[in-house]
Amino acid sequence: MIIIAPSLLSADFAALGAEVAEAEASGADWIHVDVMDGHFVPNITLGPSIVKAVSAHTSLPLDVHLMIEAPERYIADFAAAGAGVITVHAEACIHLHRVIHQIKELGLLAGVAINPGTPAAAIREVLMDVDMVLVMTVNPGFGGQAFIPATLRKIRQIRQWANEVNPGLRIEVDGGIAESTAALVAEAGADVLVAGNAVFGRSDRTAAIASIRAAANE
Ligand code: DX5
Ligand code: ZN
Repeated sequence: MIIIAPSLLSADFAALGAEVAEAEASGADWIHVDVMDGHFVPNITLGPSIVKAVSAHTSLPLDVHLMIEAPERYIADFAAAGAGVITVHAEACIHLHRVIHQIKELGLLAGVAINPGTPAAAIREVLMDVDMVLVMTVNPGFGGQAFIPATLRKIRQIRQWANEVNPGLRIEVDGGIAESTAALVAEAGADVLVAGNAVFGRSDRTAAIASIRAAANE
């Protein structure tokens, strides 16, 4: 029921193949891949060629989080690279509904993300179209930031709306998720937990994933 998705942003970029393989062996459910373009967020990470290279080292779904402007330009490339889930930011899409269906037509799960400063209402009209809503629990761009507690109310609101229009909706949280915050977000209605620092920053990844999962299932 709860999905734990370690974020590669905190992994060793010179050893991504080994890092994803270890995350899989340590009990991860999905691998979260943060794509940043230096425009939508003040950081630059990786593109489709690295996603493709990583996909050869794991059988887990690759959960691709696009923090890029006009993501419709790259959906097909990330799908071809092996993405299983593609999430776009509502703030980055003028034609959000069209982009979501572009993802679904390629046979992938479609997610829509919102920043901490964006109200839940921004995604209300597409709730029935998406497989997942990603509620950012930090401002995107960097790993290792502190969880923003005000996002809990937004998670609750989206879960309540989803119960009416899309009961199977996954709600993902990303940023500052660790053993200490996992119970809070799960209680609010989140069921996909991204964790960067709290997994790849620890030497025992099996214990890290298990403790986040246990806290979420409390
Ligand atoms: C932030 C990224 C996150 C990041 C989370 O912009 O979207 O996926 O890796 O890192 P932690 O879990 O360390 O806050
Ligand atoms: Zn992310």
